[in-house]
Amino acid sequence: MSRLNGFCNIDAKQFLDIYEEYGAPAYVYDGAAIAERCRAALSMPNAFGIDARYAMKANSNRTLLREITRFGLLIDASSLSEARRAVMAGVDCDKIILTSQEIPEGGDREVLEGMIRRGLLYNVCSLRQLRLIGDFAADNATELSIRVHPGVGAGETASRNTGDHYSCFGVHLSDIDEALEYAGGMGLKFTQVHTHIGSGGDPELWRGNIDRLLGIVGTYFPDAVSVSFGGGLKEARMPGETAADIESLGGYAAERISEFYARTGRKLKMEIEPGTYIVANAGYALTRVIDKKSTGAGGFKFVVVNGGMEINARPQLYGSHHPFYVVSRAGELLSSEFDGDEKTYDAIVAGRCCESGDTQNIDADGAITPRAMAEPEIGDLVIIGGVGAYCSSMAPFNYNSYPQAPEILVRENGHPQLIRKRQELEQIVVNEL
Ligand SMILES: Cc1ncc(COP(=O)(O)O)c(C=O)c1O
Repeated sequence: MSRLNGFCNIDAKQFLDIYEEYGAPAYVYDGAAIAERCRAALSMPNAFGIDARYAMKANSNRTLLREITRFGLLIDASSLSEARRAVMAGVDCDKIILTSQEIPEGGDREVLEGMIRRGLLYNVCSLRQLRLIGDFAADNATELSIRVHPGVGAGETASRNTGDHYSCFGVHLSDIDEALEYAGGMGLKFTQVHTHIGSGGDPELWRGNIDRLLGIVGTYFPDAVSVSFGGGLKEARMPGETAADIESLGGYAAERISEFYARTGRKLKMEIEPGTYIVANAGYALTRVIDKKSTGAGGFKFVVVNGGMEINARPQLYGSHHPFYVVSRAGELLSSEFDGDEKTYDAIVAGRCCESGDTQNIDADGAITPRAMAEPEIGDLVIIGGVGAYCSSMAPFNYNSYPQAPEILVRENGHPQLIRKRQELEQIVVNEL
């Protein structure tokens, strides 16, 4: 079996089989890897119980939502549409938290109220949101969660840091007194205090987040029975990166929550909201080499593939690196960035979009740097790893009118299942008048 890396349960030949059946570009998800991550998240060490909520923005495919919630994870939704999509996938409202910048109005407001009545937990993210939900929550004796902006954050890049002063997620600490005064006047209770400091940052800062949030709960929130530390557990997509150690972080949280209990007599349940951790490294983008070019002496070699920023825009958005695997038309793994073998072909993987930045090799500062791989032939596959999170759900997929790529889930028993069809060109224009 020629596996792409130590954590992939799909071998190179099976990727070729999937390509032959469904074409490229396509997203392929490793169901066994997702299952393993769901189990690990739910068994993260804790003091008085844990709920793990899957941050569905990472990947909202309904089959994945069903699989992940079947393991016992709850859902973190970032918009009313996401919450509705979870319900459409069969998730009950009482398994969903809504943490959103959006303030639903009109018909959407009625939908939101209906979902809250059926158990959705509303996470107040601003003073305005609190005032707008106040009457309804008081009339319906609805318990609320509050997202606190702690003033300190961490992320893979500045744009992924949601806790710093240039980011406006949650009720800032400087507004907490006003929020509490309003809530007290309305008889509202915050039974959960929540924060999310950002995605992909230094795990040490996630540890700091635990202390900070417990301090905030102790000072301001006497009714809280649960603390949510949010998502943001760092994943190692590339060799050499270090992932967050959730055993160690959980152990630390358990210790600190136990100390909090010893001090206050309050037993806090803990929540986490992993998106990346659950799906990122379980996703692979299958692309086919359609051209090879160079920019001459002193220039670069380019491998042009039929899926770039329209299937994975993380390089353009954050300068993120994703590993490349080259698989021949015979299904042989020619190179993997995880195998440590020396590779002689330094190339830039370019997409097919009419955009000079459409490359998977772009850094956060805009520099495009070649990476070593086996030299592929036209028709070979270049598989891009680490694309399970924030790729299918976040890429500008209809740019240049390229149809959205299909998604295939390789089940734990090894059986590949189409879980989203390739979009038809007609579907792109269907709403145009
Ligand atoms: C409130 C909240 N929870 C959870 C997450 C998931 O983060 P990650 O995918 O880094 O785990 C995010 C990501 O933006 C978020 O905003």
